Amino acid sequence: MLEAYELAADAFTSTAEERAAEPEAFWVKRIADPSGLSAAFGAFEGQELIGTVALEFAAKPKTKHKALVIGMYVTPGARSTGAGRALLVAAIEHSRAIDSLLLLTLTVTEGNAPAVNLYRSVGFQQYGIEPMAILTPSGFKGKVLMWLQLRRRATAA
Ligand SMILES: CC(C)(COP(=O)(O)OP(=O)(O)OC[C@H]1O[C@@H](n2cnc3c(N)ncnc32)[C@H](O)[C@@H]1OP(=O)(O)O)[C@@H](O)C(=O)NCCC(=O)NCCS
Repeated sequence: MLEAYELAADAFTSTAEERAAEPEAFWVKRIADPSGLSAAFGAFEGQELIGTVALEFAAKPKTKHKALVIGMYVTPGARSTGAGRALLVAAIEHSRAIDSLLLLTLTVTEGNAPAVNLYRSVGFQQYGIEPMAILTPSGFKGKVLMWLQLRRRATAA
């Protein structure tokens, strides 16, 4: 993820400096949160981690039907070989297996065509744009807001 924040700075809200200061426990929690509020997925070439995505599940009773997709990244040398889609499909399948989960949301920086196309290709739809969402070296940029409905139900279990 530190590579991601460094090489794809406009795609992420966190900076490499901020995240480098996090203790190891922060990353361990993201990978295997004992409270079950996150799940992380890795794409590997042999033993080498070449891509990641993670889910953050909402904890509050009124929002626990939702999860947020974060940390989508494939290392430059491994792109355009299907790793990004495979990661996202794994995260969606994991989500569909959780009965109380009804939808996924994510945000993507305006103009990030590879990511927007990837999300659309697995069924995410745009529902808005947050203006001036992040300050990048090239100025303020909006965030495209996307969602994927996992199942239809009037009330969550
Ligand atoms: C976005 C990203 C994760 C895509 O990963 P990837 O492994 O290259 O994607 P895949 O090979 O699985 O491609 C899946 C789909 O994504 C879209 N896509 C991927 N690269 C693309 C590109 N360069 N241009 C346009 N669309 C692209 C296409 O729809 C593609 O489907 P297709 O091959 O049938 O056309 C990768 O480019 C990346 O890590 N970018 C930097 C970090 C980032 O922007 N993360 C998103 C944060 S919201």
